[in-house]
Amino acid sequence: MTQIRLEKNGPVAIASIDRPKALNALNSAVLDELDALLDAVRADETIRVLILTGSGDKAFVAGADIGEMSSLTKAQGEAFGRKGNDVFLKLETLPIPTIAAVNGYALGGGCELSMACDIRICSDTAVFGQPETGLGITPGFGGTQRLARLVGAGMAKQMIYTAKNIKADEALRIGLVNAVYRKDELMGAAMKLAETIAANAPIAVRACKKAIDEGLALPMDEAVALEEGLFGSCFETEDQKEGMGAFLEKRRHEPYKNR
Ligand code: CAA
Repeated sequence: MTQIRLEKNGPVAIASIDRPKALNALNSAVLDELDALLDAVRADETIRVLILTGSGDKAFVAGADIGEMSSLTKAQGEAFGRKGNDVFLKLETLPIPTIAAVNGYALGGGCELSMACDIRICSDTAVFGQPETGLGITPGFGGTQRLARLVGAGMAKQMIYTAKNIKADEALRIGLVNAVYRKDELMGAAMKLAETIAANAPIAVRACKKAIDEGLALPMDEAVALEEGLFGSCFETEDQKEGMGAFLEKRRHEPYKNR
């Protein structure tokens, strides 16, 4: 891979979009690499959490690549949107938890990339926005949908119609991010969060992700039935037996085995 760096730190994988000279803008090559990286992460059973961040000290991702988009036809524009949406849906439905560590500009496709992750935390230098209407386009990688679901339709419409960026403190206030850290503390905080998640029973954590994501699209009676099935399936796991056994025996549980 030349556009994304992947490191592993125990059960945590860290993927950094690595085009700092273009502020990590998403061109087709980056999207192709992200697609392949997600397949590799999914196939690696030792990875329990994925962190996404941006290389360099200015940007998470400053958007889809404007140079590549500038001369697209209607059909090519639609195809480019589909390409981004397919990759972001693959990210959103990755069975393990994902954390966006937003270390600077997260604009357009960058804000959309962070929103396809389960959890967003950011540095105090982060800037979020959907500048597309100022460029003559709509958000194209899910922004109209995920932003409205995360911060409500009214705030999403204001951000998208005005094309105005917001800073980290405002992103925290409207619930777009869960926490803001000093820039030099962001990756440490992301690792700590990832390790805390990775120490919990992985099958249960993955079942929770599925229950929340799929349940939100269902009426409540069907959603709780989905939870019941997943809750029941945990009782077939070794990790449930160890977790509850350890509690009853008043000892610390052994590291969970993902079984
Ligand atoms: N696409 C392509 N190149 C980009 C880029 C983008 N989205 N964002 C930044 N770059 C490039 C710049 O062209 C520049 O390249 P050169 O050095 O070769 O000129 C380099 O990155 C550094 O950028 P700046 O000199 O502009 O840096 P700055 O600090 O002055 O400004 C910025 C930073 C405010 C983020 C500014 O770069 C900017 O406004 N970028 C565009 C942001 C944007 O509009 N994003 C949305 C794109 S549309 C989209 O994403 C659609 C979608 O939903 C799929």
